[in-house]
Amino acid sequence: MEKQKLIKNFKDREPIEGFFVVEYKHEIKEYKNGYRFMFGISDKSGEVMVNYWGGPDRKQVEEVFNGFSKGDIVYIKAVSVLYNEKIQVNINPPENTARKALDDEYDLSIFISSSNQDIGEMEEKLFSLVESVKDEKIRFLLESIFKDPVIWSKFKKIPAAKRYHHACIGGLLEHTLGVALFARTACRLHSSLDRDIVIAGALLHDIGKIEEIKITNTIEYTERGMLVGHVALSYEIVKDHLAEADIPETTSMKLLHIILSHHGEKINGSPMEPMFPEAAAVYLADVYDSMITQFIREKKDIDTDDFKIYSNILARRIFVK
Ligand SMILES: [Fe+2]
Ligand SMILES: [Fe+2]
Repeated sequence: MEKQKLIKNFKDREPIEGFFVVEYKHEIKEYKNGYRFMFGISDKSGEVMVNYWGGPDRKQVEEVFNGFSKGDIVYIKAVSVLYNEKIQVNINPPENTARKALDDEYDLSIFISSSNQDIGEMEEKLFSLVESVKDEKIRFLLESIFKDPVIWSKFKKIPAAKRYHHACIGGLLEHTLGVALFARTACRLHSSLDRDIVIAGALLHDIGKIEEIKITNTIEYTERGMLVGHVALSYEIVKDHLAEADIPETTSMKLLHIILSHHGEKINGSPMEPMFPEAAAVYLADVYDSMITQFIREKKDIDTDDFKIYSNILARRIFVK
């Protein structure tokens, strides 16, 4: 089979063949020609709904239905169609099929990509930023977190998101570095900013993602991630380590405030809005890094003759020439 088509490039009335992760599966229902069921599939580029249009033999439909579950990799031969201005996939047996894939049939890179940057090089850059912090108590806090082998083994691998920017292995490290470097530039432009607080806040702002996201066959949220979210999880990790670091109360509160305010506005899930310049610097660096990266991701591997696509994630049209 030639290289399989990415979901984001599915078009109206085209054959689809390849391996995908099952995101969800709904129960069997009756329809005029027999029995059908719906499920969702994803690859590293997106997610799409699939309709299995079975015949009148319920047992046969049940056999296909019971053949795979959420989280499995499935092999699918189907047709993509545009319906209500949205792409979906139809499986019309017997020409089309859906079945659980065998372990040696597919390559995991279909579902999860890796950062383009070398993890070792990013690690070096991150630790040189840690070393550049002059206040030794803040530096101690950063070292106690990033030099903890359990934290670091997760931090260097975890994606920064399931779909949005840096949804790749090493994505959290790449994003954290991006934010810290943008924030460092802000310190160069505005000499009155407290550089140590800005750098520490930038490096720690998304640390809770190590508990929010996990890698299986795909990128998934953990239960804690779903219910608590990375803003609170980051707060928790930093608060735990602050107890050891003996940092003055106001500085500690400023670091925690940067974490709680880094999504900028309450409407974006930020429990606080930035209340001092260092917090504004980290918030803006986070927006810069994530937005620019998302635009680049949208254009990557795009297969269209058009000069524009619609991005669900950025909620706007993107110019792709
Ligand atoms: Fe965040
Ligand atoms: Fe972030």
